Amino acid sequence: MRMNEISYRLSQERAPIYEALEEFKKKRIVPFDVPGHKRGRGNPELTAFLGEQCVGVDVNSMKPLDNLCHPVSVIKEAEQLAAQAFGAANAFFMVNGTTSAVQGMVLTACKKGDKIILPRNVHRSVINALVLCGAEPVYVNPETDSRLGIALGMSISQVEKAIVENPDAKAILVNNPTYYGICSDLRSIVQLAHKHHMLVLVDEAHGTHLYFGENLPISAMAAGADMASVSMHKSGGSLTQSSFLLMGPSVNAGYARQIVNLTQTTSGSYLLLSSLDISRRNLALNGKAIFSQVTELAEYVRSEINQLGGYYAFSKELINGDSIYDFDVTKLSVHTLDIGLAGIEVYDLLRDEYDIQIEFGDIGNILAYVSVGDRKRDVERLISALSEIRRLHGKDKTGLFTQEYIDPQVVTTPQHAFYAEKESLPIRETAGRVCSEFVMAYPPGIPILAPGEKITNEIIEYIQYSKEKGCSMTGPEDLQIERLNVLKGV
Ligand SMILES: Cc1ncc(COP(=O)(O)O)c(C=O)c1O
Repeated sequence: MRMNEISYRLSQERAPIYEALEEFKKKRIVPFDVPGHKRGRGNPELTAFLGEQCVGVDVNSMKPLDNLCHPVSVIKEAEQLAAQAFGAANAFFMVNGTTSAVQGMVLTACKKGDKIILPRNVHRSVINALVLCGAEPVYVNPETDSRLGIALGMSISQVEKAIVENPDAKAILVNNPTYYGICSDLRSIVQLAHKHHMLVLVDEAHGTHLYFGENLPISAMAAGADMASVSMHKSGGSLTQSSFLLMGPSVNAGYARQIVNLTQTTSGSYLLLSSLDISRRNLALNGKAIFSQVTELAEYVRSEINQLGGYYAFSKELINGDSIYDFDVTKLSVHTLDIGLAGIEVYDLLRDEYDIQIEFGDIGNILAYVSVGDRKRDVERLISALSEIRRLHGKDKTGLFTQEYIDPQVVTTPQHAFYAEKESLPIRETAGRVCSEFVMAYPPGIPILAPGEKITNEIIEYIQYSKEKGCSMTGPEDLQIERLNVLKGV
């Protein structure tokens, strides 16, 4: 291939999957393949709802459109462009959310019995991956901010201690940035890990913008991490469920592809794939301007909320050089306890009384997701609703639960606990037993209990309180979360 041909193919102005779909539409090919709705004609109701444009490109893999499981043409080119845009050696298009990218990272790095060092405040997808592959978690307990009640990043001394105590660990997983915007010292973690021949895997679900914006915390690939899972559908603008799995040069991408194909659909959605392709092009060409606008908007809302009194919209002032090494200013996290309301209560009031849907509310905080799609008048509505909530519903904060990080007592591996013989007990009778399932509030989806962990009275109280306050709880087999599955005889 000649040089100018390579540079044409790798031009960020291109979107090969999107271009192939445009060509495909012109050809009016007669479909005797799946999907059976045949460009929507077989399902008029669906077509009326989603539109002809949309169902017309809901097609299956075919020669001119490549195949997600074994890309050789347009998907391969689109993946190369994504890798280039994100500064990665390789990138895979993922159509089952960042969950599948996280699973791809963990299963590529670890086999049954291998150790992986990670903070406990990870998303459920990480511990799910441990259930799937049988790796053993070595938790680095995160520090917490006692006022905000949130878990912070990984401190270097804690990571170092975990490495020294577990020199046989295969990888370190870092959650960066956290949902609340907290960043760890990724560069130092990578240096430490590589010195001890461990891979660094970054759950970067909340960090797509770090690759394109200016004056934001360092991205995983720029810090030299080996793999990263990036939710393009969060700050990147693509359709829900579409994500990227990024790899550095040390990772065998062929093997990682085999791992991903263990659980990946053989019918990858071209709606999702084209949305990734188009969004990558948009970010590569316009990302700097987009995220400068998002930052400016988030800073504006933060300063307005802080002037209301009572609320604390936190930011870079939290930086401490270690467990809060940096802060992602595009995140609008607001502490609410000082107005006498739990975050989840403010969340409910915003939705029920003001028709405002925010990302989540937990025990002490809310998180409003700010993006380039927000209009000034929308953020003004949020600010005035918060002001009114404080005036009408604010009260003394005594009696409010403060959210705390609960140090897990790991008794056995997530995989062993998940598949072991178990019994179902009323939650109140489970103290002292070993849980065999997950319990979490979603979002943020960080397990309060994971399979293999000891249940304590403190945890039961925390679950009951979260339920009472209206947190949306998920995980256990019993959807009401009145019973929990525990290991039999343990
Ligand atoms: C930190 C983190 N990792 C992974 C995920 C999983 O992403 P997805 O919902 O795209 O599967 C989420 C989802 O919110 C998340 O917050």
